[in-house]
Parts: sequence; structure tokens; C-alpha cells
Amino acid sequence: MPKKILVIGNGGREHAIVEALARSPQSIDIYNFASAVNPGIKNIIGESNIIVGDYMDLSKIQEVAQALKPDFAIVGPDDPIGIGAVDVLKAIGIKSFAPNKANAQLESSKAFTRNLLAKHHIDGSPDFLVSTDTEDSKRKAFYDKFDGQIVVKADGLLGGKGVLVAEEHFQTFEEAEDFAIQSIKKFGRVVLEEKLIGKEFSLISLVDGKTVLDTPAIQDHKRAFEGDEGPNTGGMGCISDERGSLPFLDKEDLKVAHNITVEVMHALEKENGSPFIGVMYGGFMKTKNGIKLIEYNARFGDPEALNILPILKTDFVDICEKAIDENLASIGPLEFEPVATVVRYLCPNGYPNSPVKNVPIKLRESTLENCYFASVAEENGKLILKGSRAIGILGKGAHMAEALADCESKISNFEGPLFYRKDIGTIT
Ligand code: AMP
Ligand code: GLY
Repeated sequence: MPKKILVIGNGGREHAIVEALARSPQSIDIYNFASAVNPGIKNIIGESNIIVGDYMDLSKIQEVAQALKPDFAIVGPDDPIGIGAVDVLKAIGIKSFAPNKANAQLESSKAFTRNLLAKHHIDGSPDFLVSTDTEDSKRKAFYDKFDGQIVVKADGLLGGKGVLVAEEHFQTFEEAEDFAIQSIKKFGRVVLEEKLIGKEFSLISLVDGKTVLDTPAIQDHKRAFEGDEGPNTGGMGCISDERGSLPFLDKEDLKVAHNITVEVMHALEKENGSPFIGVMYGGFMKTKNGIKLIEYNARFGDPEALNILPILKTDFVDICEKAIDENLASIGPLEFEPVATVVRYLCPNGYPNSPVKNVPIKLRESTLENCYFASVAEENGKLILKGSRAIGILGKGAHMAEALADCESKISNFEGPLFYRKDIGTIT
């Protein structure tokens, strides 16, 4: 009997997850609970294995899983993880490669994470203040202490609009204060942090509460336009070098980041009484005072997953099962192809503020190797843009220049009202 695996979510990240599972030498049947049919996932598992519905409805998740009785589930996006998808699956006896709601606070609450590091004496946080009172003079004192060079973070998910950085998003105390008060009114608290200066990198680790297995370090480019200009997006593209690192990082930097994740994983179990199973995605910054933690996500990044999963040589099905069994230690270090990777997202013209929608794109050739579908639908045999990031294209090579050339050649296969950041792969 093939093993049944249920993947929840239907973006580029989940396309890469499904592809990585499908490469397993084991006999498996993959099912996808999706808000819409992803043409890439459909090509791999067939339309009959896709159940379309609202995965933000926890009772629907239970219903779908109850009918399928999968051996395990993978929940891809942060939203269903954050509202407790893993907990409702557990309630009907289905285990997941993703964290439960309590552990997912690592992503859903910035105050929870900063307090966790402080309580457990884990180094790596900038100076910070958690404030809960709309009338709190400590905020002005904190602002003054750093000459206004602070970051204000809403304590809940605001679709990428929850973080305000001094000079980029606000200039005065009053502006920072307005946002802080809004956050307190909405979420009960706000976090103020010292603004760190340095280069950012992501270290995504697969964890089971006992063992932390790192994937290649990655640099994301969140701004919509070249030169890191324009509005923030979910991520326009990511890079990683042939060492599974980045030009500005050395082994020691990655070790420091790894150790923060190990300590945070143990602290979470002490705090919540259950192991964190799944993906701990650390956003770090290399500053002149060492490696600092910016934030954690509790899932694969999108597009970061597109740099990582396609080059993973270790059996991903085995990884998920061993993580669920809290036995990741038996897997040993993860194996990856020793290549540099460049991922660029093709986006509809006008994205993110006023994207063209419901327009077709064309393929010059039918080959789609390392092309990951996100906000694209297939209608009457045509690929149609749906308004958000459309197709993530992975280039691979012996070094960055080769990966970049590979990415560009794959991009030239697409025709339509699309743009992408041409500088991703040329800058760090
Ligand atoms: P988000 O991914 O929406 O939470 O945005 C977080 C972004 O805000 C990070 O990628 C950083 O660029 C920036 N950021 C967050 N915290 C800090 C900090 N303490 N110092 C400097 N930049 C920060
Ligand atoms: N690319 C950023 C994220 O997935 O959070």
C-alpha cells in the first residue's frame, strides 16, 4: 500500500514541496488540499488528487483529512499553521510535519519570540521593549535611547505590513507612536526594537524538538524593484552559493545562527510542553556586533523553498516521517546538490499595487523543469495570471554566474505581461 501524504496549500512553495516528495524512492500517493488548483501540482499528482476548498476553515481541514486518512500531513502556509491546523489534525489522529499552534507563535507573535529568548537567556536579540499600554512613557524613552533608530512591530500577522523601520517607513516619534497604538488596540501589544544594521540572511532548519538539520543559507530580496526599491513583497527572488552559503558569511556565522535555533527549539518545548516539529526559518542579520535574530517563521519561505527543496538529495518523505517520530538524528546532515541557486519570481506587470489579472501567458517550449507555479491558473489549456507572484524560476550552476545564466535561459521560455528583478543573482 502506498503511503498517503496530504499537502495543504497551493503556492510555489507547495509546488516545490510536492515535487520533493514525489522524488522519493518510496511508494507514495500525494493529495493536495488547495484553495485553487495549482497547474504545477496538478502535473505531478493529477487533478483527481486535489481537493479544492478553504484551508483556513479548520473543520474543512478535518473533513478532508478524515476522508483521506493520510499517513501524515504537511501544512505549507503560515496562516493555517497559525490558526491551529496541526492541532485539529492531531485531534483526529493525524500527525503533521508542521508545528502546533502554541509552537507556531514563534512566527505569529513577535512579542512571544522576543520574550522567549529573554526568558531563556538566549543571545541574539536586539534591545527591545514589549509594550501593552496605549499610554506608556517607556516607548518615548526607548525611542530616545536609540535616537529614533528603532523598528516597530505589530504583534500579529498583517500580511507583510506589520513592521515599520525608522527612516524607511517613519520619520518621527509621532508616526511610530501612531502605529504602536494601533497595534496595541488590535493585538494587545507591540514590540519596539533597536534598528540593526547589516546584511540579512535566512537559515531554514528542519527540526523535531531534539535535532536541528540546516538547509543552505539564503538571501531573499523582498522589494518589488531593482536596487531594492519599491514596496515590500512576499519575496521577488533568492540566492544561495555553491557552498550552501552566501559570499558575506563564514562557517562561524552559520554556526552561531544554528545554535540560536537549537536553543530556541529547546526553549519552545520547555515553554509549551510539546516539541516543535517542522521548519524553523530564522531571519538573521550579520551586524558589527555579531549575528542577530530578526525573526522566525514557522514554515518554509516562498521563494526560499524553491532554492532548497529541488536540490535536496535526502529523501524528503523520510525526513518528514523521522521528524514526526522525533528521530531526525537518525537522518544525519541533509544532503544537497553542491550547486549555487538563483530563484526569480515572474510577476504580473503592475505587481504588487495594481497587477494585471486574468491575462494569459505563453510558453515558447513545453519544458517546465524548475518552474514553480504560484498565482497562476490553467483555464482551457492556457496559463492565466491571477494577480500575485506568478512563477518562480530556479537556476542552478557550479557557481552563481552559471546559476544566473540557467535562470535567465529558463525565464526566456515565458512570454506575457510579466516582469522580474534582473538584479537578483548579481547582488548580495
Ligand atoms: P517582515 O518579514 O515583514 O516581518 O519584515 C521584517 C523586515 O524588517 C526584515 O526583513 C528586516 O529587513 C526589517 N527588520 C525587522 N526587524 C529589524 C531590526 N530589529 N532591525 C533592522 N531591521 C529590521
Ligand atoms: N520570502 C519570505 C517569506 O516566505 O517569508
